[in-house]
Amino acid sequence: LASNSEVQVALLGAGVVGGGVARILGEKRDAFARLLGRPLTVTGVLVRDADRARAGIEPRLVTTDAARILEDGDVDIIVELLGREQPALDYITQALTAGKYVVTANKDVMARHGSRLLALSRQHDVDLLYEASVASAIPIIAPLKRDMLSNRILSLAAIINGTTNYILTAMSREGADFADALRQAQDLGYAESNPANDVEGEDARFKLAILASLAFRAPVRPDDIYREGITQLAAKDFRYAEEFGYAIKLLALARQVPDGIQARVHPAFLPIGAPLAKVDGVLNAVQVEGDLMGRVNFQGPGAGSLAATSAVVADILDAAQSIIGGRRDVHSEEEAPSKIVPMSELVTRYYIRLTVKDQPGVLAQIARCLGEAQISIASVLQKETNVTARTAELVIMTHEAREASVQSALTAVHALPVVEEIGNFLRVEEP
Ligand SMILES: NC(=O)c1ccc[n+]([C@@H]2O[C@H](COP(=O)([O-])OP(=O)(O)OC[C@H]3O[C@@H](n4cnc5c(N)ncnc54)[C@H](OP(=O)(O)O)[C@@H]3O)[C@@H](O)[C@H]2O)c1
Repeated sequence: LASNSEVQVALLGAGVVGGGVARILGEKRDAFARLLGRPLTVTGVLVRDADRARAGIEPRLVTTDAARILEDGDVDIIVELLGREQPALDYITQALTAGKYVVTANKDVMARHGSRLLALSRQHDVDLLYEASVASAIPIIAPLKRDMLSNRILSLAAIINGTTNYILTAMSREGADFADALRQAQDLGYAESNPANDVEGEDARFKLAILASLAFRAPVRPDDIYREGITQLAAKDFRYAEEFGYAIKLLALARQVPDGIQARVHPAFLPIGAPLAKVDGVLNAVQVEGDLMGRVNFQGPGAGSLAATSAVVADILDAAQSIIGGRRDVHSEEEAPSKIVPMSELVTRYYIRLTVKDQPGVLAQIARCLGEAQISIASVLQKETNVTARTAELVIMTHEAREASVQSALTAVHALPVVEEIGNFLRVEEP
């Protein structure tokens, strides 16, 4: 780049995030120019509907022709804010291949194709920056890449879906059922009309794939990650959790274990004193454990136009500094693919809620099934006897046991004539 020339930025997308980025690049233009020593100028904006007026964006910059932007040799940084896998993936690939720096907020693209795209960026000697793809405003990608580089990362534990955290917080505080808490979240705009992607844990799984690949320097794909959503939780699970001294959170967990990497997303019991147990509402949080630094916690807004804009604009400034100063991003290259350890090998404690016939000897039968699978009971509470139906609810906390043993023991327990229903079973985490 010539010593006095501006850094040219093109935006792909001008929606919630793209619109915010265009506005902030305009409002802070002078401050950013002082910071960089030269102007940062938006020279093109790709949208679907070019006729719509867009605040803070000059109409002459707006186009529906991707080639006009991607084939413009003067553009230095492409900022992809379209969302979804295609055409975003093709555009990013094209931009990197043309030797342009790329900033993206796209978790679908980075979770599925991040390894390949990062390798492509190295091949073309440019950076691909994706801070906003996970936990929005919270700096987590850059710290993992740079500030924690001296560590071997041992584990990640995160709350990275604001929608589900809002729902679980409402269920815990108000004793609301899942359906009511979901409706409340939808009324407030925190949940989409089709909430499946969030409440089934899919969104968190994609974000964990991005974080785990970076932290462990090995590709972890969304399909490698065990997933369970929050739809099976009942208000009473929260009451019982509290009695035992736990909160319930949808956790995204990844850990180095002797045989490889274990990665999973599911609701879990978490001691109420744990830092993640206090992360409420739409907040996100990521806890990273390294061999040198111990446990470090990040917390903040995980969504919203300005929160995402904050991370995207920081990446743009970072890319601009690299372009001007010839500085290269510290790439942590991925090593050989790691073995993904199956969920069946997990060892943890379990909470089990059952509806049983209210008659003598029931507990002994259940304890025998669990004992035959090497599962020992830590405590049992009898709850909510239903006199009319002659049933009772049992809540069991186990000692540490293998997931595979618990699954097979629950099948045997379910087959007992005295057991009416297995209401729920949840894993206990102590991150
Ligand atoms: N919203 C958040 O809080 C947030 C937070 C973190 C990360 N992100 C990520 O940021 C990205 C953008 O999200 P968003 O909420 O800003 O989305 P959005 O509001 O739906 O905006 C998408 C933009 O892309 C344009 N677009 C979409 N498909 C296109 C195509 N095929 N060709 C040309 N233009 C196209 C749209 O054009 P029109 O305006 O003409 O429709 C719109 O301007 C996503 O990857 C998202 O996951 C969002």
